[in-house]
Amino acid sequence: MKKILILIGPNLNLLGIREPEIYGYETLADIETMCRTEGQKLGFEIELRQSNYEGDLVTWIQEARTGYDGMIINAAAYTHTSIAIHDALRFLSVPIIEVHQSDPKKREPFRHISYIEPLAAKVIAGHGAKGYLMALEWLAHEA
Ligand code: DQA
Repeated sequence: MKKILILIGPNLNLLGIREPEIYGYETLADIETMCRTEGQKLGFEIELRQSNYEGDLVTWIQEARTGYDGMIINAAAYTHTSIAIHDALRFLSVPIIEVHQSDPKKREPFRHISYIEPLAAKVIAGHGAKGYLMALEWLAHEA
């Protein structure tokens, strides 16, 4: 069975209560359940990890160099700042899908740069929690 790692960055542990008008009402646990259900339909084993720490994300990306068939990443604010995450992602040979629940390009200018986008096979933004499911579908049908 293909294995997909979903990495989620800082402050998204507060999904559901953090600015729901921007990010939606689903909690991170809801999103994990939705992704597992969709993964079962598509034949994917799903592993989802969240951290507020840049170094955790870098270490997990390094570990994903073997044993996974695709990565979905919402690095949250680190998207716009982290060359360390960019550098770690450069090592991966599996497809990377960048997901954002809001559309950062339609928000403040400091969110317009993404250090992940140049490495992403696909960017999905502005679809709320559904964006992760769209990313799984993309991996199943287009990757
Ligand atoms: C986000 C967008 C980022 O700009 C922001 O810092 C986040 C969440 C999103 O999913 O819309 O924390 O990645």
